[in-house]
Amino acid sequence: MDTFLHVGALWVHILGIALFVGPQFFLAFAWIPTSKLIEDLPTRARAMRKITTRFGYLGGVGIVLIVIAGSYLIATWRDWHGEDIALDAGFLDYRFGLIFVVKMSIFAVMLLIVGMHMVVVGPAQVEAFEELANGDASANSRVLRLRRVSMALSITGLLLTLAIMAMGSMLSSTAFSLDLL
Ligand code: HEM
Repeated sequence: MDTFLHVGALWVHILGIALFVGPQFFLAFAWIPTSKLIEDLPTRARAMRKITTRFGYLGGVGIVLIVIAGSYLIATWRDWHGEDIALDAGFLDYRFGLIFVVKMSIFAVMLLIVGMHMVVVGPAQVEAFEELANGDASANSRVLRLRRVSMALSITGLLLTLAIMAMGSMLSSTAFSLDLL
């Protein structure tokens, strides 16, 4: 039963990561160049609003799955890796503990950046683009400025996410993570 739950939790963790990370690459490498082919600006603005809203739903579901499954994995780490862990050893006596603490700290920063992007900068960017599409040329400078901020946030968030994934892989590589410090 424990094995079933552990494999299930890893599966959900990875599914969440796929839902969270996949659309970030899709948006950057597929949607942004494609959107420029839509010459009618109001149509481009509507498509942008739709795709970024759906992107938000997918990423949000992804984060929820990651956190639920990750919480199970960390709550059961001692039972799961039981025979490899000394009874009197503490969490932070192992590389596992240290990597986990660093991973959670980066995760908190990443959530802050992604949250700022999704709640503040992203919606402002879509709104400014809608104004421009509706003929308000003065919105252009705002669109350009917000695009720069949005790109910086996206790239930083994605790099942090990739670092977190590397740390997850280190945690799972027990020959490495279950060494005493
Ligand atoms: C509350 C947040 C999180 C918790 C509590 C958590 C916890 C864990 C734990 C305990 C493991 C190791 C499981 C084992 O013992 O083998 C793990 C693996 C992993 N985590 Fe997380 N994690 C969280 C968030 C994330 C995020 C945000 C990402 C990346 C976007 C991520 C990526 C990974 C990866 C790639 C693995 C390796 C999976 C595998 O073995 O195939 N984790 N996580």
